[in-house]
Amino acid sequence: MRTFYIETFGCQMNVHDSEKVIGTLVSEGYSQVETPEAADLVLYNTCSIRDKAEQKVFHRLQQFKKDHGRGKVFGVLGCVAQQEGERIFERAPFVSLVAGSASYAKLPEMLVQLKAGNRHVTGLSLDTDEAFDTPFTRRDNPHRAYITIIEGCDKSCAYCVVPFTRGPERSRTSESVIKEARELARMGYSEIQLLGQNVNSYRDPSPAGWDFATMLRAVGQVEGIRRVRFTTSHPRDFVKDIVDAIDENPVLCNHVHLPVQSGSTRVLDRMQRLYSREDYMRRIEWMKSARRNISITTDIIVGFPGETEADFEETLRLLEQVQYDSLFSFKYSRRPNTPALALDDQILEEEKTRRLSILQELQRTIQVRRNSELVGTIEEAFVEGYNQATGQWIGRTTQNRILNFTHPEHAGPKDGETLAGRYWSVRVTRAGPNSLAGEAVS
Ligand code: 5AD
Ligand code: SF4
Repeated sequence: MRTFYIETFGCQMNVHDSEKVIGTLVSEGYSQVETPEAADLVLYNTCSIRDKAEQKVFHRLQQFKKDHGRGKVFGVLGCVAQQEGERIFERAPFVSLVAGSASYAKLPEMLVQLKAGNRHVTGLSLDTDEAFDTPFTRRDNPHRAYITIIEGCDKSCAYCVVPFTRGPERSRTSESVIKEARELARMGYSEIQLLGQNVNSYRDPSPAGWDFATMLRAVGQVEGIRRVRFTTSHPRDFVKDIVDAIDENPVLCNHVHLPVQSGSTRVLDRMQRLYSREDYMRRIEWMKSARRNISITTDIIVGFPGETEADFEETLRLLEQVQYDSLFSFKYSRRPNTPALALDDQILEEEKTRRLSILQELQRTIQVRRNSELVGTIEEAFVEGYNQATGQWIGRTTQNRILNFTHPEHAGPKDGETLAGRYWSVRVTRAGPNSLAGEAVS
C-alpha cells in the first residue's frame, strides 16, 4: 500500500477532517492519487445527515466491487462509518476499514493493521475527550484555511444523527487554536474559518476558560488575518457578545449562519431545539440593530412529523420577517437512532416536495430584492479564481455573497499571474438571486 484516493461527502467539518486524514497519510509515506483506479487504498469520507447522502457511499462501493481481489483496500470513514459500524462489512464485504471521526487520532495504528493484512479494522469508539489535533494537515485552498475549534455535539435535536456520529462535544485549548491561526497567517493564509457542529458552544478546556466570543476576538487580532468566518452557530448558545465582537472588528466577517429549522414554536418544541420563535427573533434583532450590516443565513427543514399547514405558514412568515440573505432548505428525512423516529404523523413525500418548492420560491424573491439593494455600492471582494467561460474573476464579499467581476487590466490569469488570493474593491453593477456582478475599481 503506497498510494491512496479519498472522496469526501458532507459538510465543511468533513472536508477539513479529510485534509487532516490526507496530511496524516502523507506523513506516513503514502502519496495521494486522483482516481480510485490508481490507488492501493480507496477511502470514502461519508455523510449520513439525510438518507440520500448515505446512499451515495453504497453506490460508490457497488461501482468498485469489481476491483476487489486486485489488491485494493477499501475504507469507509466519517458519519456513515460511525452510524453503521460493523454492519458495513456485511453489506460490502470487500471493505477492510470502518472508522468514525472520533477515532482518526488512531489512524496510524489502523494503517499498520491494514498493512499487516487485517481485513476487519475498526475505529468506532466515541468514548474520547480529545479533538483530532494533528500537526499534519494538507490544506486544499492556498488562501483560506479551516480550523476546527470544537468537535461533536451535546444537543439532541430530534431529527439529527450528528450526536450519534460525531460523539460528545470537546473543545480544543485556546492556546492550540491561536498557535494554529498564527502559523497559518505566517504561511500566507489570510482567511480563517472556525468550524464546529455548534461552533458557538466553544468552551476552552484550559484554565484560561475562553468562551466563543473571546476566541473570535482573539483570532480577529492575529496579524496577517484579514477575514474570519465561523460556522455553524446554534441559536440557543448565540449570545449578544458575539454580535458586539463583530461590531468591534471588521476582520470578523459580517455574516452569521443561524439555522432556525422552523418558524413554528410548536414544531421547534417537537424538534427539541431548545428555543422558541421569539427567542430566535431576539437574536435576529441583535444582529439587525448592529452598527455593521450583518448578513444572515439559515437552514430550514420542511415536513417534520406533525408539521401542519399552519406551522409551515409560520415558517414562510419568518422568512419574510427576517429577510434572509440565503438559506439551505431540506425535506425531513428519517434517520436511524434519532428520537423523531418515534413520532407519528409523517408528512407525505409529495407534500414535503410542495412545501419545499413554495419556500424556495419565496426565498428566491427575497434574495433578488436583497441583492438588488447592493447595486451601485462598492464591496471588497476576496478573489477565489477566474471563470474562463464568463471572463470574470470570482470573488466573495465579507457578507459571503459571490461577486463576479471584470478587471480592465487583468482580463484573466496570464503568465502565472493571478488575482486569486487578493482583495479588490468592486463596484456592483448587477444582481441575481444567487450572486452579484461588477467591475473592479482601482
Ligand atoms: N432531515 C432533513 N434535514 C436535516 N438536517 C439535519 N438532519 C436532517 C434530517 N433528518 C438539516 C438541518 C441542518 C442541516 C445541516 O441539515 O437543517 O441544519
Ligand atoms: Fe454529514 Fe452531519 Fe456528518 Fe457533517 S456531521 S458529514 S453534515 S452527518
